[in-house]
Amino acid sequence: MIVNAPDRRQPRFHFRPAQNWMNDPNGLIQWQGQYHLFYQYNPAGPYHARIHWGHAVSRDLVHWEHWPVALTPTPGGPDQDGCWSGCAVDNAGVPTLIYTGVHPQVVCLATSADGLRRWDKHPASPVIAGPPPEIAAGTGGHFRDPFVWREAGQWHMVIGSQAAGRGGLVLHYRSPDLLRWEYLGPLLAGDATQAEPVWTAAMWECPNFFALDGQHLLFFSAQTAPGELLYPVYYAGAFDGQRFQPRAQGILVHGQSFYAPLALRLDDGRLVVWGWLKEARSEAAQRAAGWSGALSLPMTLGLTPAGELRIEPVAELQALRQAPRHFAELALSPGRAGWLDGLHGDCLEIEAVFEASPEAEFGLQLLAAPDGQEQTRLIYAGRTQRLSLEADQASLSPDVDRGVRRAPLSLAGGALRLRVFVDRSVIEVFANGRLCLAGRVYPTRPDSLGVDLLVRQGPVRLKSLTAWPLSAIWER
Ligand code: FRU
Repeated sequence: MIVNAPDRRQPRFHFRPAQNWMNDPNGLIQWQGQYHLFYQYNPAGPYHARIHWGHAVSRDLVHWEHWPVALTPTPGGPDQDGCWSGCAVDNAGVPTLIYTGVHPQVVCLATSADGLRRWDKHPASPVIAGPPPEIAAGTGGHFRDPFVWREAGQWHMVIGSQAAGRGGLVLHYRSPDLLRWEYLGPLLAGDATQAEPVWTAAMWECPNFFALDGQHLLFFSAQTAPGELLYPVYYAGAFDGQRFQPRAQGILVHGQSFYAPLALRLDDGRLVVWGWLKEARSEAAQRAAGWSGALSLPMTLGLTPAGELRIEPVAELQALRQAPRHFAELALSPGRAGWLDGLHGDCLEIEAVFEASPEAEFGLQLLAAPDGQEQTRLIYAGRTQRLSLEADQASLSPDVDRGVRRAPLSLAGGALRLRVFVDRSVIEVFANGRLCLAGRVYPTRPDSLGVDLLVRQGPVRLKSLTAWPLSAIWER
């Protein structure tokens, strides 16, 4: 195996395997005081092929320890071409993984008898051999990513699919024993012609379904027909055990870098979600780097009474903070720079509170070279009520996506409170506890580290800003 030189784009406080490819988080479960994370993993290289389940364990949601690979495709078995995404449940004391075998896409089980280290494929696999016959033709064989929960003495499952030419599907099943599954119908069917408030495209993968704040939250990841990955979409609504009636809808995490999220209900009641942070550079660049993909920070989810999303990074991340720097009460005007006295870094958390007039346009400059040749900007524009991550000058490399990523955000006359996490090639921004915008940027210059305030139109007042260098999660 080729061991690549250290890469300054490798995140330091986001989980990822030491090398090679990862995509979706899988099988999240809290077991005897530890959090278990599984993930789509290719041990053979930094590209998507013959997917295994990697495995890691944490006691605090922040620091992780790598464990041996949990699932490997079995030659001649229903998962011979890959162990694709799925979930984990506690089946009366037996830890059980419920995952997608390919090809064709089927539902498989594996169990562990030694404390989640070794996994045995269940001889009854596949427990569902394909989509329900009455809709199979329209699914084109897309039938994946089982998500299972227990309710009223039964197991329930949702699984992603599509009705070709119409839109995505979340299919609903029920079982007494995880082995015999009865198809109950679609939990939700999409309309690919609907553009507002969110286009949900052609195929839905990785569904999740939870009771949350007196409502139910459904989310899934939307794909276009040719397999372009878009974003995770959520619906909030009412569920009576059989029928789900959505009433609010949106994008779970904006920016088109965060995909295929999976959530875990912690024993303390919080609902915490992680997603796959896709790369935004060419396949050739990923192969040259020797690694691809990282896990997002853990984020808690909630719903307002109107079904709007609440989203915040988990409090446990504060364990990574080093000595802070503070700034306060600055009246900001356009055309000036150097507000933050040389603040710099590429592994940082920044918490900033701004008060601004409705037409103001302002924000932060990140990962900026001293001469500004490389820089990423995070801008709030009052007029358009949008938060944007502007990556058009983020990198001198020709191999990267330099798109501008936008998310709608109304301040309704109030302040803007940002929590920004910069981890080399990863930027995650939380705004007012109401939205998350995630992006990937690949500065090439070693001195692209600067942080500054930026005002295009005032008046704007910085109430306070605190910046912490964050430590790596692999060093205790
Ligand atoms: C989402 C996804 C899942 C599938 C897995 C394969 O990113 O396409 O639908 O199970 O990745 O790795």
